[in-house]
Amino acid sequence: MTELILTSVQYCVIAAISIWLLSKIIQRLQLSLAKNPSLGGHLRWAKRITKWIPGYSYKDQDWYRIDHAPEHIEQTRRTALLALGEDLHRHYAKTLALSQQAKPMIPDLQFISHYRVPYQFREVLQQHVALGSFWRQSDGVWLTDLDGNRLIDVTGSYGVNVFGQDFYKACIAAGSQLVQELGPVLGSYHPCVLDNIQRLCKISGKEQVSFHMSGTEAVMQAVRVARYTTGKNKIVRFTAAYHGWWDDVQPGPGNPMPPSKHTLTLREMHANTLRVLRNRKDIACVLINPIQAMHPNQAAPTDSTLVDGGRRAHFDREAYTNWLKQLREVCTKKGIVLILDEVFLGFRLAQGGAQEYFGIQADLVTYGKTLGGGLPIGIVCGNTNVMTRFHNEHPADICFARGTFNAHPYVMGAMNVFLRQLETQEIQTLYRDLDTTWSARQALLNQRLSLEGLPLKVNGLSTVWTVLFDTPSCYNWMLQFYLRREGIALSWVGTGRMIFSLNFSDEDFDAFCQRFIRAAHHMAKDAWWWTPEGQTNKLIRRRMLLEMLRQRFH
Ligand SMILES: Cc1ncc(COP(=O)(O)O)c(C=O)c1O
Repeated sequence: MTELILTSVQYCVIAAISIWLLSKIIQRLQLSLAKNPSLGGHLRWAKRITKWIPGYSYKDQDWYRIDHAPEHIEQTRRTALLALGEDLHRHYAKTLALSQQAKPMIPDLQFISHYRVPYQFREVLQQHVALGSFWRQSDGVWLTDLDGNRLIDVTGSYGVNVFGQDFYKACIAAGSQLVQELGPVLGSYHPCVLDNIQRLCKISGKEQVSFHMSGTEAVMQAVRVARYTTGKNKIVRFTAAYHGWWDDVQPGPGNPMPPSKHTLTLREMHANTLRVLRNRKDIACVLINPIQAMHPNQAAPTDSTLVDGGRRAHFDREAYTNWLKQLREVCTKKGIVLILDEVFLGFRLAQGGAQEYFGIQADLVTYGKTLGGGLPIGIVCGNTNVMTRFHNEHPADICFARGTFNAHPYVMGAMNVFLRQLETQEIQTLYRDLDTTWSARQALLNQRLSLEGLPLKVNGLSTVWTVLFDTPSCYNWMLQFYLRREGIALSWVGTGRMIFSLNFSDEDFDAFCQRFIRAAHHMAKDAWWWTPEGQTNKLIRRRMLLEMLRQRFH
């Protein structure tokens, strides 16, 4: 009898362990199924593989004919590169000289000039072509460099520039005047802070606001309070989505440490992700960057990864809205904090930001960039139940987050002017006509490109566009240099992202189109879009893979 009882106890223990093990296996399986099959969805693997990618450069002829172009095409390209380099050096002499002088002492500058093009092309390219990194002046949609060249600004100042640089100059000037009697006193507030908070609460539909110094910090804080409030550890963010440069959310290579095991990188717009959210009990928050609606599960397009013509982008507002609503529903049911990271898109899509544009309410919203009226800022908005950083019943259990420059009076002043300006008739009209205006402009440019027989088009979300290439060429990334020569200023990611400010008039936009088309014609004439018979994007990628393997193991 005793033996039998013991056996039953043993049986129960074994059964319990088996059930536990099975549930772990199922959980693990569900997690694997919710990962994007790309390397971006498997960051630990991606991290390992980065160490295996060999550094090498195309030399001499190979550089000009990596696609096995015939000799006359190689010659055309060679002559064109020399001419392009000479033109840029002649016209941008002072700007380039200062950039070259500063570069050895600014790691950021070294980094971005290193990653403007696919790395195999960098060495030879840099012997001929350089781009400056200094500006002297901004006005309207124009930037003027140290040589007096005027370029159309689609850099977007990393997204800060929503309303045009003059608008921010005015915010900073009026904001500084507003707070100048107080000066840079920190730790308490200038009275305009109350007005800022009230306006932000109204815009975000939340009860509280916390101030930080950058978008990265705002997202860090949002995640921190979400963990504190829920008592759970894991954060879910989506493949390739950018949320600042801190370790837990680094979207791809670029982080010296492997991504934390508390970060789950899941597949955006996928039912398997919803299943993980539904079935797990340890998820504190879900982070969404709505710019990913343009290219779910893919990294933001840059010219440094433009090895072929396979860049894709397509914004489907209805599908993305639907996805956000599903996320909202599951997060509400499971007590997961839904964080909408509007650092980039906030105030660019609508006055009420992405929440208004997509018709959802997040639990926490982060803003930054443009909201500082031209000065550095990060903001978290949320309701009291998520934002409170202490428990009265456990006084030592706190969520500490301070920052010396939080709510700096000059930033608050500029923000106050920014927020008040949003109410003006002029800005309201801009917002009202936003989608119609920019969809029409996108269609217009695409129509002109097509009429001119040029193998490229643009696509995007409102005023954030990317250039798409019809030709499976290994040299599409060259376009950024032609655009610079024609007087279009792009950020370091090149044609991957063009960010327009809303103050573009029809005349400004026409000037942009003319320059863009001219640059593309030169690019075509210089044979960068020549391709061998039967060339496809797939073949280019396969060739590159073999080339890397050869380099790795030769
Ligand atoms: C969506 C999003 N979140 C966070 C950040 C980080 O903001 P910051 O560069 O101000 O730290 C960015 C920056 O581009 C962003 O686009």
